[in-house]
Amino acid sequence: MATYKVGYFIGSLSSTSVNRELSRALIKLAPADMEFTEIPIRNLPLYSQDHDADYPPEAVALKEAIHASQAVLFVTPEFNRSIPGGLKNAIDWASRPWGQNAFDHIPAAVIGASIGQIGTALAQQSLRGVLSFCNARQMTAPEAYVQFTPQVFPGDGEVADEGVREFLRGYMAEFRDHIIRVLTVLPRTPRPS
Ligand SMILES: Cc1cc2nc3c(=O)[nH]c(=O)nc-3n(C[C@H](O)[C@H](O)[C@H](O)COP(=O)(O)O)c2cc1C
Repeated sequence: MATYKVGYFIGSLSSTSVNRELSRALIKLAPADMEFTEIPIRNLPLYSQDHDADYPPEAVALKEAIHASQAVLFVTPEFNRSIPGGLKNAIDWASRPWGQNAFDHIPAAVIGASIGQIGTALAQQSLRGVLSFCNARQMTAPEAYVQFTPQVFPGDGEVADEGVREFLRGYMAEFRDHIIRVLTVLPRTPRPS
């Protein structure tokens, strides 16, 4: 059975991140032929063009992890109506040096959870703009704006609400189909990291 290697970004650095919990649920609900590896962003220094000629090891590892993935999934909170600075910093590293953008043509999807009803809608719009410039091939529908409550997400990737559970299952099935469609016209051989 073919498998699809998905690298996923958690936009939050919080030890109690609700988005990390959402990622656990998404992985549990995903089709069996999707494999997931987190792409860590925590230890990246702040990006500067001064590093372009000699990337630090953390940034080299970031780019290798993206190259080893057939698709990327962003699971992010909304900070002040945009994406967290740590995630934007990681994207900046991955997109450079000029001409060596790791996101070029990669199948991508965005999703996020917040404690408020807006469900990261504005952060996702902001992220979509950034990924568009990076030439990632984004899934445009379905969109998924998740309001996190402990009642719906009690822990360990469980989703207690059947409606939410089936919606997230459908979201991941659509992402898998999106990956297949993109890879059909833009084949991508993961480079070993
Ligand atoms: C700096 C900061 C800014 C925030 N801005 C927003 C916001 O713009 N919209 C929103 O819905 N929630 C906002 N929140 C609340 C987050 O939804 C909440 O902290 C959530 O738990 C963050 O996700 P995480 O647990 O995965 O880190 C903000 C939180 C912080 C710490």
